[in-house]
Amino acid sequence: MSKKLTRRRSLYLGLGALTALATFAGNAELKRQRILALDDPQRNFTVVGGGSLKERAASIGLIYGAAIRHDHLRQDAKLAAAVKSECRMLVPEWALKWSTPKNPLRPNPDSFDFSAADEMLEFAHTQGMLFRGHTLVWHESLPDWFANNVNYQNAKQILEKHINTVVGRYAGKIHSWDVVNEAIEPRDGRSDGLRKTPWLKLLGTNYIDYAFRLAAAADPQAILVYNDYGLDYDTSEDEAKRNAVLKLLESLKLQGTPIHALGIQAHLDAAETAFNPRKLRQFLRNVASLGLKIMITELDITDKNLSVDTTVCDRIVARAYEEYLNAVLSEPAVIAVLTWGLSDKYTWLSEFQPRSDGVPVRPLLLDSDMNRKLSWNAVASAFDKSLNSDFSLVRKKLFK
Ligand code: G3I
Repeated sequence: MSKKLTRRRSLYLGLGALTALATFAGNAELKRQRILALDDPQRNFTVVGGGSLKERAASIGLIYGAAIRHDHLRQDAKLAAAVKSECRMLVPEWALKWSTPKNPLRPNPDSFDFSAADEMLEFAHTQGMLFRGHTLVWHESLPDWFANNVNYQNAKQILEKHINTVVGRYAGKIHSWDVVNEAIEPRDGRSDGLRKTPWLKLLGTNYIDYAFRLAAAADPQAILVYNDYGLDYDTSEDEAKRNAVLKLLESLKLQGTPIHALGIQAHLDAAETAFNPRKLRQFLRNVASLGLKIMITELDITDKNLSVDTTVCDRIVARAYEEYLNAVLSEPAVIAVLTWGLSDKYTWLSEFQPRSDGVPVRPLLLDSDMNRKLSWNAVASAFDKSLNSDFSLVRKKLFK
């Protein structure tokens, strides 16, 4: 190749690199501007009085609570104190799943280990808190023995044994159960939108109705909930999921399934701009029109896509909390707002959705030292704003 050619080639390569660099820098700047546009430095989220979240929630006929891991509750006295102070309801993040790394509920096909769940129920009851069960039927957190031991012949009996034993043990002591969790996945391509799970494969489409009937028989007092995520934003994916969940709920109600509420997990993203309060409120109204209550069951707001400093980050997260709750609390059928964790110190997001810049994530209401954050103010402010609305008067009648 002639020298001229190599010179031209290296010039082109250089220009290409410069263009790529400029594009990258431009995109980075564009992204930063887009994030800063989410921030409102004037918004200070002032709250009046010193009431806790559970007190502010109760004044509008709402339950506030949080999901906590039993090992964290046991080991961290500051966390336990914060839970007692802020929460009306306690949700075991792990203890009532089939299997998690510590004290798995189902160590083997023939036994149950209730030690972790009993410990959390004891804590809740000594503190006068409500307790909820999460979750009876899910495709995740299944024990290793499940795949090799559960088959077409015994799946129904294994489901019956699990629900009868677990729900029966806590009958009368549980506010509500997530009976079936995350059974909808439109991307699995089924016309009914059902997720292709081991339960669907082994028991057919009636497994959902059957699980609710078993739970209702084992504990007639508990509110029975269908729980799912990805229902919040004005995106084609969330719209498809809302429609599929609504179709499932309508079908269950039509066949007389003993279902009482929809659980909306609400794992949100502070950088998400496709939030349409009107669309969300319409979905909530559609669910409520089926005679169902609504629980926000796993609220947290990831800051992983906010590459800005902590002060700005916290303000954007707080704004997202307030805007979401302002929309949600306009629906009187909403009876509870539960966060998935209380302190940033123990959020599942640290491990599952870390920030690319390595900065510790800040999705929750208390910081790692259990101090109230701006997002705590935002939630408190959203509760307070709902105080004099007709919805809180109606909601008080649903308060349980
Ligand atoms: O820490 C251990 C590690 O030592 C071990 O090597 C590894 C092997 O499996 O497990 C690690 O523990 C994991 C734990 O998270 C760490 O925090 C567990 O496997 C893993 O199951 C556990 O994930 C939990 C996940 O549900 C699945 O059960 C999360 O803690 C929990 O926050 C998350 O919660 C779910 C709700 O139940 C349903 N909605 C979504 C929500 C978030 O995914």
